[in-house]
Amino acid sequence: MDEAPPPDRAPLVQVIGLTMAFGDDVVQRDLQFDVRRGEVLAIMGPSGCGKSTLLRHMIGLQVPAAGQVLYGGQDLNECDDETLAELRRRFGVMFQSGALWSSMSVGENVMLPLRLFSRQRAAERRLRAQWKLALVGLADAFDLEPAELSGGMRKRAAIARALALDPELLYLDEPSSGLDPLSSARLDGLILNLRRNLGTTVVMVSHAIDSIFAVADRALYLDPQDKTMLALDAPDVLADHGPPRVREFLRRGSTPAPRP
Ligand SMILES: Nc1ncnc2c1ncn2[C@@H]1O[C@H](COP(=O)(O)OP(=O)(O)OP(=O)(O)O)[C@@H](O)[C@H]1O
Ligand SMILES: [Mg+2]
Repeated sequence: MDEAPPPDRAPLVQVIGLTMAFGDDVVQRDLQFDVRRGEVLAIMGPSGCGKSTLLRHMIGLQVPAAGQVLYGGQDLNECDDETLAELRRRFGVMFQSGALWSSMSVGENVMLPLRLFSRQRAAERRLRAQWKLALVGLADAFDLEPAELSGGMRKRAAIARALALDPELLYLDEPSSGLDPLSSARLDGLILNLRRNLGTTVVMVSHAIDSIFAVADRALYLDPQDKTMLALDAPDVLADHGPPRVREFLRRGSTPAPRP
């Protein structure tokens, strides 16, 4: 008889038979995969295939047309509001726009989740935010305005904010898009450090092939033609043995699809 795996070995997230749609327009169907504790999982595919939409489902912001997303074994769409709030506190999110509030300093941006969701006092919040900024290489940016930061620094500050509540899992939507190769490589290094030093599990949406090879343990490919996942494996394995469209994607990168 199968026994349930011990809690620390059980997958952190389970996506089960997930179909995502806007009205009658199906974006992806029959998605089935786990996020394992401690891994960096890349979600990849051409522009418009549904990567950001999948992320929104995984954080409980969008309701599945069919199927389930379980976090720590609990269905994000079936639990009560209190449980959902508790579950959401366990993960951090950096959205594709990655926006910081321009009316607040960088430090205030990072302290905001602590102000909203923790009972820490002001001095402790400040210390924690300073520590998170140091972690992403922005120790000196606490009092700066977001407008004073470069694109790469803004992304790292947004990651510091997503880390504010010490999440066990970090969702990143296109962390390196719009960055020069050096800033992008630096961000890859940061993701690997987070995993190594804090044991953070990372789910990273990306169509940056270099980043996927540099940081992902496994990569999931969402196909815009078949509207389902074609493959999930280590990037090297997919590059050598994946389905033709996945190999092609990993060779050439994505060409942006026309958006409606
Ligand atoms: N709010 C919405 N209402 C209707 N359709 C939407 C909405 N958001 C996204 N879509 C559609 O769903 C599909 C998937 O969009 P999504 O943003 O998830 O793609 P993506 O893979 O993240 O693309 P990119 O790489 O450009 O960020 C697209 O066809 C898009 O037009
Ligand atoms: Mg997107």
